[in-house]
Order: sequence, then C-alpha cells, then structure tokens
Amino acid sequence: MRHDHIVTAKQLSRADIEAVLDRAAEIDADPAGWTDHRPDALLGLCFFEPSTRTRMSFETAIKRLGGDAVDMGATDESAVAKGESLADTVRVIGGYVDALVLRHPREGAAKLAAEHVDVPLVNGGDGAGHHPTQTLLDLYTLRESTGLDGIDVGIVGDLKYGRTVHSLARALTNFDARQHFVSPESLQLPASVRYDLHERGAAVREHTDLSSVLGELDALYVTRIQRERFPDETEYREVAGQYRIDESTLAAARDDVVVMHPLPRVDEIAPEVDETDNARYFQQAHNGVPVRMALLDLLLEGSA
Ligand code: NCD
Repeated sequence: MRHDHIVTAKQLSRADIEAVLDRAAEIDADPAGWTDHRPDALLGLCFFEPSTRTRMSFETAIKRLGGDAVDMGATDESAVAKGESLADTVRVIGGYVDALVLRHPREGAAKLAAEHVDVPLVNGGDGAGHHPTQTLLDLYTLRESTGLDGIDVGIVGDLKYGRTVHSLARALTNFDARQHFVSPESLQLPASVRYDLHERGAAVREHTDLSSVLGELDALYVTRIQRERFPDETEYREVAGQYRIDESTLAAARDDVVVMHPLPRVDEIAPEVDETDNARYFQQAHNGVPVRMALLDLLLEGSA
C-alpha cells in the first residue's frame, strides 16, 4: 500500500481497494494463519466521539494479528480535558505506537492530525466528513454478495450528514455501479460529494421516494438519521422515521436484494428483516475485523 495515511475514500484507487479486499479474503479463509503475523505491532486508539464497532473491531483486528492496542480512553479522562490540542495529542501518541486510529466530531480532523504524526493514521470517522474503513468493509460485503460491477445500489437515509455515505459514494465510482440516492430533500448529498461524483462521471440518480427505484436495486444501503449532527432537534423530528425497511419493503423489492446498514440502527430496519436472507448488516459488521486486519497489515507492511 503506497499510502501513509487513510483519511478519505477518495484517495483509494480500485487497485488499492482490491488489495485490501483480497487480503481480507485471505485472512477470512484462514484466520488462524495470521495470529502471529504482527507480533510487535501496537495500535493507538484515539476516539473523541462514541464508537462501538469501529473501536472494538480495530482492537480485535490488531490483536488477531498478534499485536496489541493502547486506548487514549474517554476525552474527559485524558489530557484533552486539560485543553490539549488535537495536533499535540496525536503527535505524542504517534510516538508510542506503530499506527493510529482517530475518530473525531470535527470534519477535517483526520487530515489535520495526519500532518502531525509519523506513523500511519487511519480516519475512523471525522464528523460528517469521511469514514473510509467503513467503506472498505461495505465493499467487502457487497463484493461477497452482489459483486462490485454492473450493480444498482440504493443509498437511503441521511445523505447530508452520513459520513459512511460520503465515503461509499466516492469509492463506488471506481466500479461499474449505478448509485440511487434516496432521502428527504433536506438531507440530500452535500455539494462536495456531488462535485466528486460528477468529476468521476458517476452514474447517479436522486429520489425522495424509495418505491420509485426499489425494484431495480441489487443492494439497499440504509443509514441512520444522524441526530447528533442536527443543529436543531425539531428539524431532526421532521425527517426521523421517513424510510423504514420492513417486510412490505422487501415484498416490493427484488427477491435477492441485499440489505446493508453500517449500524447502529435506530428504527430504520424492522427487526423482522433480520432473519431474512436479504439481511447482511450483522455479517457486514463482522467483516470489519478481517477488513481492518488487512488494512492494518498493508499499512504496517508499507511503513516497516
Ligand atoms: C457509523 C458512523 O459512526 O458513522 N457507525 C459505524 O462506524 N459503523 C454510522 C452511524 O453512526 O450511523
């Protein structure tokens, strides 16, 4: 891997993505074969925002490679509470470890932090910006389920604040994928994402009504309305619960439509969907471990 840091999905070429997914598939095929692969590797976890899957799957990933993780802990228990800048925090922690994962509520935080560390820095989500490693596991899941070329993908929900969407949409431009964006008008894609999609000549359609496109979709990527990013709670309430995927949605979709979600879900997908063959979101979350193992291994290989 020729990248020092993974900040945005935009920096990933098709070859980069395939290198990670192929390595993840090798790991998946023989997890036991990788347990001593990176025995001395230490991963720093700097999470300035809540996280369950990203934090724990990165920690699991480095441990499954034979390495270990050190965690900055909650921001109210670290020097951040004393007013330390992000640049100083990551610069110090970057001196302890071989790679760093950063999650931060501010868009652009990962890009800034990467300028202050000498070890690979991975963006684990920066505000409403990017979430490139979620995208890699999304693509891994899609590749297993539908393949990545010649597909119609519906991306539903909060396209404005949803960083997983911003990364996935950009990454899909490397493949022959038609993207159908479905959201309330107030939560449509931000201009920066539109610009990038346009520049890449991506096949894109926008809808407010899911039923107008549902029957064409190979995959339906559902997202949570990002309540914590709304400046005003009443605005959130106006759009919450507009798209709920349940058995009646599946009945109107193709029989083999694949339903994905980065999780956590609130009420976007009814629990009755969980037991159907269409549901992939728990498998998708589990794929976070081999995919993050693969990414860390490639980054450590490149920086070794
Ligand atoms: C996502 C995130 O943090 O952006 N969660 C995750 O990492 N799987 C999605 C979300 O919070 O809705």
